[in-house]
Amino acid sequence: MKKRPAARASASGKRAPAPARSKHRALRLLLVAGARPNFMKVAPILRELRARPDLFDARLVHTGQHYDELMSDVFFQELEIPKPDIHLGVGSGSHAAQTARIMEAFEKVLEADHPDWVVVVGDVNSTMACSMVAAKMSPPIRVAHVEAGLRSRDRSMPEEVNRIVTDALSDLLFTTGPDADRNLVSEGVDRRKIHRVGNVMIDTLRRFVARADSSDVTRRLGIAPPFALLTLHRPSNVDDPAALRRIFRALEVLARDLPIVFPAHPRTVKMMQDLGAQVPATGLLLIEPLGYLDFLHLQRRARLVLTDSGGIQEESSILGVPCLTLRENTERPITLSRGTNVLVGSDEKRIVGAARRILRRPAPRARPIPLWDGKAAGRIAAVFARYKSC
Ligand code: UD1
Repeated sequence: MKKRPAARASASGKRAPAPARSKHRALRLLLVAGARPNFMKVAPILRELRARPDLFDARLVHTGQHYDELMSDVFFQELEIPKPDIHLGVGSGSHAAQTARIMEAFEKVLEADHPDWVVVVGDVNSTMACSMVAAKMSPPIRVAHVEAGLRSRDRSMPEEVNRIVTDALSDLLFTTGPDADRNLVSEGVDRRKIHRVGNVMIDTLRRFVARADSSDVTRRLGIAPPFALLTLHRPSNVDDPAALRRIFRALEVLARDLPIVFPAHPRTVKMMQDLGAQVPATGLLLIEPLGYLDFLHLQRRARLVLTDSGGIQEESSILGVPCLTLRENTERPITLSRGTNVLVGSDEKRIVGAARRILRRPAPRARPIPLWDGKAAGRIAAVFARYKSC
């Protein structure tokens, strides 16, 4: 088994990234993807790294946290992500069970092949599980976190716990904006580890938006603008019967104003069945999860997006589509200050009131967000190029 020399220890005892040592061996990076929102983030990073085989040897691990054709495979095909080098096939489970299965399987991967860096993205269980394994290897493997520093300040969100743990263990923290940098600094992260590179999810959006334009999803669904687009899967909304019923009551009212397209996450469908939650009979089009291109096509043409997802707040802001976030907080405050996002929680009156205000006004103009320019993955590769080791 090849072993990398131990990372240097700084005076504070924290590991500091080692500087470049030799130009002869490509830097070995293991990228981790596990769940749907990871795939559009790893795609541009892998593309950039593989474009420079002289500098980087980049491989991809899929944990299998998401495994359905519509939750996983379609993204690999559409976003032209190469087949994962390693598939852990962990599947679903409770948070503890899923995290433990990922950790056990990923530890075997790292034991067999000690890369220079483990690169994780976002805030799903796979992100945190693989960071913990890398940090506890002997010697430790350095962790780079893409989309670091986001904080909702709501620890009842599993993703918030995943973000805090992952950032605490990371040796390189790639951020999307200044609020994330501030969060990290206030938690004591060494500024030299933080690199503001922009938003890799927007790299993917910019690359594929023209291709998404030619999707025929509206014809297949038999809908035409104006329509609203809804996604809903957060435990705080779908696992809480009272919240889910409030949201459906709001949707029933809104569906009288315009049709609502609802590609439903398997978790949400299951909860709706368990609770016997009634989908409003008219105006709400409940469909299976969509692929990336079909979803982007609809999102771009939607008069209004309703969501509890994180990434969709960012995409809607860049597309200039009004977004109502069915949560009380967001870890992405830039979408409120510079984007099109408004927080409405799960209160029926707030949702309907905010939606009707949007429908009365002309559609907003998209405003650029600094560094969300399609070049974030290139900036990440440039940082890694500085760490190329022997
Ligand atoms: C996960 C992420 C969440 C992200 C979401 C996007 C965590 C803690 N949560 O939530 O941050 O926004 O993905 O989709 O990592 N299931 C299937 N097929 C699949 C995957 C899941 O049927 O391919 C069902 C299973 O019943 C499973 C449930 O969905 O138990 C939940 O899946 P899980 O991966 O645990 O979390 P998500 O809710 O998808």
